[in-house]
Amino acid sequence: MKMTFKVILVGGLLVFFAVVSVVVFAPVALWNPPQTTVAIERSLEQLLGRELFYGNGCNYCHTQYVRDIDNGMGPTSQGGDYVFDNPMILGSERTGPDLSYIGRKRSQQWEIDHLIDPRKYSPMSIMPSFSFLTDAQAHAISEYLFSLGDRAAAERMIISPAPYLQSRPTTMSAGIQSTDPNAPPQGWPTFKDSGLYEGKQIFTSRCLTCHGCAGNGLGSYGGTLIVTPANFKVDPFRSMPDDQWFWHVSEGVQGSVMPPWKESLTPAQRWNVIRYVQEVYAHPIERDPNEGDPPAEYQKTNPLPNDAANLDAGKRIWTRECMVCHGDAATGMGPYRAGVEPVPPDFSQHADYVPYVDADYFWRISEGVPWTAMPTWKLQYSETQRWQLVHYIRSMFTQTEKQPPQPAKGKDFDFTTIIKQMRAPVTVSFEAGKAQFLALCVTCHGPAGDGTGPDGAYLDPKPADLRKLPSQVNAGQFSAGTVEGGLLARINSGVQITAMPAWSEFLMEADRWNDVSFVRGAFIDGSAKMERSVMGDGSVPLQYVRTDPGIFESEIATIVPADGKPLYEKWCATCHGADGLGKGPGTRTLVSGSPAAFPKGMSNPYMFYRIREGVPNTMMYGFRPVLTETEVWDLTAYLTGLTGGKWGG
Ligand code: HEC
Ligand code: HEC
Ligand code: HEC
Ligand code: HEC
Ligand code: HEC
Repeated sequence: MKMTFKVILVGGLLVFFAVVSVVVFAPVALWNPPQTTVAIERSLEQLLGRELFYGNGCNYCHTQYVRDIDNGMGPTSQGGDYVFDNPMILGSERTGPDLSYIGRKRSQQWEIDHLIDPRKYSPMSIMPSFSFLTDAQAHAISEYLFSLGDRAAAERMIISPAPYLQSRPTTMSAGIQSTDPNAPPQGWPTFKDSGLYEGKQIFTSRCLTCHGCAGNGLGSYGGTLIVTPANFKVDPFRSMPDDQWFWHVSEGVQGSVMPPWKESLTPAQRWNVIRYVQEVYAHPIERDPNEGDPPAEYQKTNPLPNDAANLDAGKRIWTRECMVCHGDAATGMGPYRAGVEPVPPDFSQHADYVPYVDADYFWRISEGVPWTAMPTWKLQYSETQRWQLVHYIRSMFTQTEKQPPQPAKGKDFDFTTIIKQMRAPVTVSFEAGKAQFLALCVTCHGPAGDGTGPDGAYLDPKPADLRKLPSQVNAGQFSAGTVEGGLLARINSGVQITAMPAWSEFLMEADRWNDVSFVRGAFIDGSAKMERSVMGDGSVPLQYVRTDPGIFESEIATIVPADGKPLYEKWCATCHGADGLGKGPGTRTLVSGSPAAFPKGMSNPYMFYRIREGVPNTMMYGFRPVLTETEVWDLTAYLTGLTGGKWGG
């Protein structure tokens, strides 16, 4: 045949359509995999939820297919799972977990709550908040999510599979259910007989690293996982029926690293640890622990000398393990206080500790305290380490033991010159250091760094007055290396024979460098410039433009200017002065200077914005993490009066 243009064109088109029909249309027409149990015909609301799911881009972060290599995420996906999905949109990237089997995992309410505020359940989550959805929309999405999994998933959420349907063994409840405060003391014997002591030991050795000492899912390992381990204090976990506890602890949780404990714990052990978690975290009941006297095997005195090396070792463990509950200054004000009941003790109440001898501390640290979240540390730390902790607590906090003599200033570090000569990386951030200083250091060092933080007041030696750092630098106490390296060394290891925590046990290196940057800029060379120019004309950024006390009051709470006064005295007066004219006592001799008098006529939104966000490159903190919105408004109202304005018209 002659290859005319027409023949080539028609032939080409024929080939093209043949190929297209084979690779595109034929599969669509012929695709008819057998429907699997996972496929469910969706209700109208579920269909709507599905549309909202794609419409809001959930599929950019969540896939919906499981392959052979996806170990442990659930059964591998089959074509037949998707017969009711049209179009099929499976997602391609797992920024968040795969959701193929999410339906069997959570309650519907959890799905809704998590959508609105993911960080409430997974504090490290980068999932955006979908709080802008209407209630109906959020509900529709939860309906859809809840339907994912196999057909029986919804039922399985509520009814455990047969082997786990047994309720808890009856032998376990003797003597424990009494919530009567006048009931006889329930000390060690009751605690041990109830099996809770075994439960506590299992929890400390097997569950603590993930679920955390406060049962909130923030264990040292847990915080790094994509799916944060369960927080036992919130629903759905808090009120799971017993058989579900037993089922999940036995089989683990699909799609997460929660192990199947039936492999290593007997049923009785599983029940004991469940009971412990329920009694201590999920539904804590205050009891009289009546611990009694330390048993014979703990009746010892501290065999270690109370020297700098042992105190340092004790401090490292303290910073790593105990501070979260007991607080940095051991007043019981650690961040987990809110989650444990009874709360950790206040070691600054020295009168309470007069009768305590070595054995009292050693025993409680080793075995924990019955009916409380205080863990059994003998499972993690050797006898020597526990004795080091006893020295540390007694010398620094309860002050019932004489401290070794202070090392000469500047001689307290035996660091190699390497660390002293280290320099901050280029990514270091003064602002991040400032935020961290507010969160971790002002309790002891005070907002102006003058050492007057409320928690640290009772310590001996008292927290350092960081305003004196420049003179130390001039006196050559940092001269073995750079100023930055010297500061890093102090922040890393704390200061010997003081309660200054060893932050390298608690903070990532980048965070410690940020602290160095802030401390240096604010206290040593004033690289923090108190430039009024940054504040400009009092204009506010977009997200604060519509900030309005009237709206706040109508929707949230009444603003009370008088309530702002104590807050001002606690947080602000040390810098801004009680009268608002600047030159507060804390800023005397501060190299970064004292704030100027408040300008007159600042608008409400401007003050609100500044108090929440701070002023970059100055000492002014963003107080958002420590003050509630209501408190910031109260302060704003109080400040208005202080600067000569009149609140409320
Ligand atoms: C920017 C990425 C991103 C987007 C967009 C996103 N998520 Fe997530 N999602 C995550 C991450 C990361 C997690 C894991 C941490 C957590 O639980 O919050 C997660 C967790 C979840 C979980 C819990 C899964 C489990 O096994 O614990 C559900 C359910 C979920 N997302 C649903 C949704 C829905 C519905 C949408 C859309 C409305 C959505 N996500 C949008 C990133 C995302
Ligand atoms: C390797 C980390 C890890 C360890 C160790 C661990 N868990 Fe978990 N646990 C998790 C994760 C992750 C989840 C999933 C949370 C979720 O589904 O939201 C979880 C969930 C749970 C749940 C809730 C199950 C549910 O979803 O309904 C219980 C109960 C539980 N764990 C108990 C325990 C007990 C008891 C131990 C110790 C014997 C333990 N876990 C040890 C990581 C761990
Ligand atoms: C999960 C929070 C938590 C952690 C972590 C924790 N504790 Fe405790 N601690 C408590 C609670 C709660 C009590 C008991 C309060 C009571 O008796 O009412 C307690 C009691 C104590 C007591 C007895 C004090 C007294 O007044 O009888 C000592 C000593 C102690 N803890 C030391 C430590 C040490 C050392 C560490 C770290 C290795 C540590 N704790 C970690 C919560 C915690
Ligand atoms: C438990 C209370 C406490 C906390 C919390 C605390 N410090 Fe300290 N800090 C101290 C004490 C006590 C000293 C030593 C005082 C002395 O040497 O007499 C000190 C000393 C210092 C020094 C050395 C000063 C010098 O004279 O060499 C620096 C720097 C410092 N702290 C920074 C920080 C930073 C940064 C934080 C927060 C990440 C912090 N501190 C948190 C109590 C605390
Ligand atoms: C560590 C010292 C320090 C503390 C504590 C502090 N401030 Fe400031 N504040 C500053 C500095 C420095 C500035 C920068 C402007 C200047 O020089 O006045 C500033 C600026 C401000 C401004 C903006 C003023 C302007 O001129 O635009 C407001 C409003 C303000 N602070 C309110 C507060 C309130 C309210 C508190 C207590 C919650 C507080 N500050 C605590 C140091 C501090």
